[in-house]
Amino acid sequence: MDPTVKCTILLILLGLVPNAFSINDYEHCENVVKKWATTSLKHERTEDKHTLKDLLFFLHVPRTGGRTYFHCFLKKLYSSSLECPRSYDKLRFDPSKEKCRLLVTHDDYSITSKLPRDRTSVVTILRNPIDRVFSTYEFSVEVAARFLVHPNLTSATQMTIRLRSKSKGVSTLDIWPWKYLVPWMREDLFARRDARKARGTNDVTSNDPYNMEDMAMPILNYINDPIAHEIVHNGATFQIAGLTNNSFLPESHEVRHCVDKYHNLGDYVLQVAKKRLDNMLYVGLTEDHRESATMFANVVGQQVISQLANSKAIGEGAIVNRSEPSSSFSDSDLDQNTNSDEKGNETTSSSDDNDVKQDSMTVGKLMDTYEVCISSLRKTQTRRRIASLKRISPANFTKEARLRVPQMVLQRIQSLNKLDLELYEYAQGIFAKQHKQAAESLFDTETLGSIFVYSGGINLWDACLWTMPFVLLFIFLFVNAKRRTLKVKI
Ligand SMILES: *[C@@H]1O[C@H](CO)[C@@H](O)[C@H](O)[C@H]1NC(C)=O
Ligand SMILES: *[C@@H]1O[C@H](CO)[C@@H](O)[C@H](O)[C@H]1NC(C)=O
Ligand SMILES: *[C@@H]1O[C@H](CO)[C@@H](O)[C@H](O)[C@H]1NC(C)=O
Ligand SMILES: *[C@@H]1O[C@H](CO)[C@@H](O)[C@H](O)[C@H]1NC(C)=O
Ligand SMILES: *[C@@H]1O[C@H](CO)[C@@H](O)[C@H](O)[C@H]1NC(C)=O
Repeated sequence: MDPTVKCTILLILLGLVPNAFSINDYEHCENVVKKWATTSLKHERTEDKHTLKDLLFFLHVPRTGGRTYFHCFLKKLYSSSLECPRSYDKLRFDPSKEKCRLLVTHDDYSITSKLPRDRTSVVTILRNPIDRVFSTYEFSVEVAARFLVHPNLTSATQMTIRLRSKSKGVSTLDIWPWKYLVPWMREDLFARRDARKARGTNDVTSNDPYNMEDMAMPILNYINDPIAHEIVHNGATFQIAGLTNNSFLPESHEVRHCVDKYHNLGDYVLQVAKKRLDNMLYVGLTEDHRESATMFANVVGQQVISQLANSKAIGEGAIVNRSEPSSSFSDSDLDQNTNSDEKGNETTSSSDDNDVKQDSMTVGKLMDTYEVCISSLRKTQTRRRIASLKRISPANFTKEARLRVPQMVLQRIQSLNKLDLELYEYAQGIFAKQHKQAAESLFDTETLGSIFVYSGGINLWDACLWTMPFVLLFIFLFVNAKRRTLKVKI
């Protein structure tokens, strides 16, 4: 045979080999993902999803504001003896404490394989994915910047290790995903500081805090980094699907990598995540904060109050051995590795009180407590953030600065978070439905009740005036809910 022909044939064959591989690889991936999706959907059951079961699992997607729900609602309802130990901990859920009633963690949905599935209710909160990515970036920088009090990285790292071995609590650095994101950012901040020292100048050439190379990693570099691909992007979808980098499910890593490689396989993941949202007791939205909190109190809080009152009556709940230290993520946790100027008195304010707290609780009181709690929590957070960002001044993440971020960056975040964008839209639909149901039941129980009770002794006009606000509220809620549903459908 002519050597040229021979050579050409050889080249064609060589060209076909990787192609054949990639076809096989795609097929393999598709099978892996399909199999996972089928198995996952089989476990999903819809019956009775509106009733709170024995165990409440708060699936806390990072940077959605879940911590305020934990501190200002759940901690006010559940005594620490009812909290599952090691919530948020790297050691994770300890199934030996069978009687616990509350689990709040950044662990993904796969933890339910360790829980009594049919006795567990799941709740979660979702946030606009673009804002969530921004917030994740800002928080990574903020926490890492606290270490800049140290003269160098070695000393910062050593100090952290020493503090952690001494303290019983859980620090941000033990908690997924921060245990990866913070050290990564910390190393980066120290390197930039060293570079400034070596240059002998602190001059900063940019006025965009999201792109201030001299001080911190620009957000564009952050979102394009493999670590962000592994942990940040589509994080809510993967967490609800139980497929994060922190999953309990052995095959999760292969499934996740397949979806990363072949984007169309993401549809299977979305299907599972949506089904799970459908079956949750409650889905909140960070953006609709007031409505979400009110609904949480009415839907979840109400049922927790009556459940705990019941179990108290039959003596349950008290049997739980209280000697186990609770290690949930408290206000003080974020302070643990920082300088003493941030250790104020709020470190003790979140101490666990007693079993008495739920005795006299009502939804109304719960909302009042929540308002007070959240405003103090926000003040603390703001103060801490300002103190921490001072260390990388003039970089300062403000609302105004965020508005100036180039369109290109936003588009990039969007394209990296397609699954989360779709899931968020779906969650908005669920939220609107929940809202409508809540409004209807409000109308049924309160409004009708008050008309019949109060109208006896007063004239028709008074009764009419009485009911007007309720009717208006109902119309407002209903129209609002309707508008949301329509918006989602488009
Ligand atoms: C880091 O700082 C500590 C404490 O000041 C110092 O003892 C140590 O020599 C420093 N290490 C390096 C590599 O500069
Ligand atoms: C999770 O991601 C981090 C950061 O990329 C990595 O260091 C770690 O090994 C990953 N874990 C698994 C189980 O893949
Ligand atoms: C509680 O735990 C402690 C130590 O773990 C043990 O000594 C004690 O007997 C336990 N009490 C009950 C009521 O189980
Ligand atoms: C903490 O509270 C105690 C007593 O309430 C007070 O004496 C102390 O000055 C406070 N410390 C700080 C740092 O606010
Ligand atoms: C950053 O901005 C906030 C609010 O806009 C402000 O209160 C704070 O002082 C600023 N921090 C620095 C270091 O400029």
